[in-house]
Amino acid sequence: MTTATRATAGTGAVGTGHTRVEGFDKVTGAARFAAELPFDELAHGWLVLSTVARGRVIGVDAEPVLRLPGVLAVLHHGNAPRVDAGYVGTLGPPDPVVGLFQDDRVPYAGWPVALVVAETSEQAREAAETLGVRYAEEPHDIAFHAGHADAYTPQSVLGGPNEAVKGDLEAELAASAVVVDERYTTPEEHHNPMEPHAATARWEGGRLEVVDSNQGSRWIAEELARLFSLDIGSVRVRSEHVGGAFGCKGLRPHQVAAALAATVLDRPVRVVLTRRQMFSVVGYRSATSQRVRLGADPDGRLRALGHEGHSATSTLSEFVEASAAFGRVLYAADAHHSVSRVVPLDVPTPTFMRAPGEAPGSFALECALDELAEKCGVDPIALRARNEPAVGPVSGLPFGSRNLVACFREGARRFGWAERDPRPGTRRDGRWLIGTGTAAATFFVGASPSTAAVTAEPDGTFTVRITAADVGTGARTALTQIAADALEVPLDRVRVRIADSDFGPAWLAGGSMGTRSWGWAVSLAARELRERLALGGAVPPEGLTARSDTSDVLAALTKKERHSYGAQFAEVAVDVTTGEVRVRRMLGMFAAGRIVNPLTARSQLVGGMTWGLSMALHEEAGRDAASGTHVGADLAGYHYAAHADVPHIEADWVEDVDEDDPVGIKGVGEIGIVGVAAAIANAVWHATGVRHRDLPIRPDRVL
Ligand code: MOS
Repeated sequence: MTTATRATAGTGAVGTGHTRVEGFDKVTGAARFAAELPFDELAHGWLVLSTVARGRVIGVDAEPVLRLPGVLAVLHHGNAPRVDAGYVGTLGPPDPVVGLFQDDRVPYAGWPVALVVAETSEQAREAAETLGVRYAEEPHDIAFHAGHADAYTPQSVLGGPNEAVKGDLEAELAASAVVVDERYTTPEEHHNPMEPHAATARWEGGRLEVVDSNQGSRWIAEELARLFSLDIGSVRVRSEHVGGAFGCKGLRPHQVAAALAATVLDRPVRVVLTRRQMFSVVGYRSATSQRVRLGADPDGRLRALGHEGHSATSTLSEFVEASAAFGRVLYAADAHHSVSRVVPLDVPTPTFMRAPGEAPGSFALECALDELAEKCGVDPIALRARNEPAVGPVSGLPFGSRNLVACFREGARRFGWAERDPRPGTRRDGRWLIGTGTAAATFFVGASPSTAAVTAEPDGTFTVRITAADVGTGARTALTQIAADALEVPLDRVRVRIADSDFGPAWLAGGSMGTRSWGWAVSLAARELRERLALGGAVPPEGLTARSDTSDVLAALTKKERHSYGAQFAEVAVDVTTGEVRVRRMLGMFAAGRIVNPLTARSQLVGGMTWGLSMALHEEAGRDAASGTHVGADLAGYHYAAHADVPHIEADWVEDVDEDDPVGIKGVGEIGIVGVAAAIANAVWHATGVRHRDLPIRPDRVL
């Protein structure tokens, strides 16, 4: 199915598949990543992380280390420059871990306690590994469970209220003919982009310059300006190429450490994180424990939808994995009650990780829906269609385009759902039991204010400047297409420059809002420039530039429930003698707005679905109760889906256009993972007749 065409004349650039404009540079090595750019006089910093889970640093034995070859400095809480980590940034207060070396407190294992700086990376590492740090250890608590005595309801959750209530849940449950009341759990999960976090900082002409790997250079520049009490004009951050990011590439200790050391030594300093360090200092997805209560009439019409989610946070600050919010827009019910609670523990503060809230929340709710379908004897897709809301189930707001049912209809047709025998445990293929399952997906649609400049050059080409981030998704290419379309010129006459905070304020690569937020600004500026040129505007030698700022137009948007939707399908084979679960095929049908670049959008969706498979069957981070430290904190010890685990995955979309967006975009960054684990768990039930409510569905749990 193809996507809709818009009223604009365009060039057909939007909606046509294009390989990445920087692809050649990437595969030939011409594209330089943050840790590869050369700097004169470069020094290298190596972080030292605490080995105890709670306590105080009572001594850092720097002297022997300072006598080692090449060592230039040892920074720690006793000598580091002061910073202000008490600010409120773009996404709220920063993770306290960026308040580097400000006091002697150790709130968890893996907390940065020192930075060793040396002439070479190897010297810094060797010195860091020999640095003696003495601790006064205190008892710690890292055991997450929903019944924890310290659990509390946080004040608010970024992006929505923490608790939502409509009607009387208990009364509707009591009046329901069919009730599902189950608890679902997901483990601690980690995001590890291919390119580890890396930053080089230096002072240049009175400005702090940082070359980084991040999800938004303007965002990081603004955070650094606040942290170091600098004017935004005194900070410049660039991040031209980024080798992956899933929520963890914000302001993190590496940029701060590099900036502190560059200040102390007055020379450029680079800090690169190791995989093992990433498990502690860049955030992760908390474990969740979720109780879902559904009450329905015999035909499956929902009377009650209750979802209570618990997640862990650190003792220092609050991050809420808001899994309970998932059903608020998805299903009509007479009563809704959803609430998130957190358990503060001696662990690092979790953070945004692809589809925060939705990924674990969809596992619980979409499995519960499948259990309800079974109890009512209703087909799982028919059950979802029966509970389609006319307006926002809790908000009462009108929907923007909502094509969930179309996703199920088209997905069911392609997947062959009609031939499915609903009885579990009845299909066999040799030693394998075979089953199929489905689940719904949704993700909110937003746009945040951004600025862009589009310049007509005297040679007939065009230059776009915007502080966008391309974290490997193809954002640069999508913006090139959007600009070409709005300018009505061929793609090869447009060059897009991104990821330089000097280009001005812009949203970050997050919340599935990057391409929509930036594309909005680019298309407005490009259209204005086209009109000026059409009116006979001459191009002076320095070029003719049109600028846009979407702040006002976004503030004036009417309030609606704007979301992307999807239907996930999975077929699994289960060997009940070995406990092995193999996914044989997956199909995701999405309604995610106008698709700018089908090639890279499909990659995004397939990537998300692959991660969903990994979440369902493989991923979990373990901590040693005695030490409070991770076990297997690397890509060998943290089990995730390998090539051989991933079958044929198909992702496609139905026609869907956001009616307010100038390009029709919604966003495809995160919805791919949503619902996948539920579809797989539901398929495992269909294969075996056994419900698995705890992820991952490991062989020992299947047996
Ligand atoms: Mo995404 S978790 O908003 O980077």
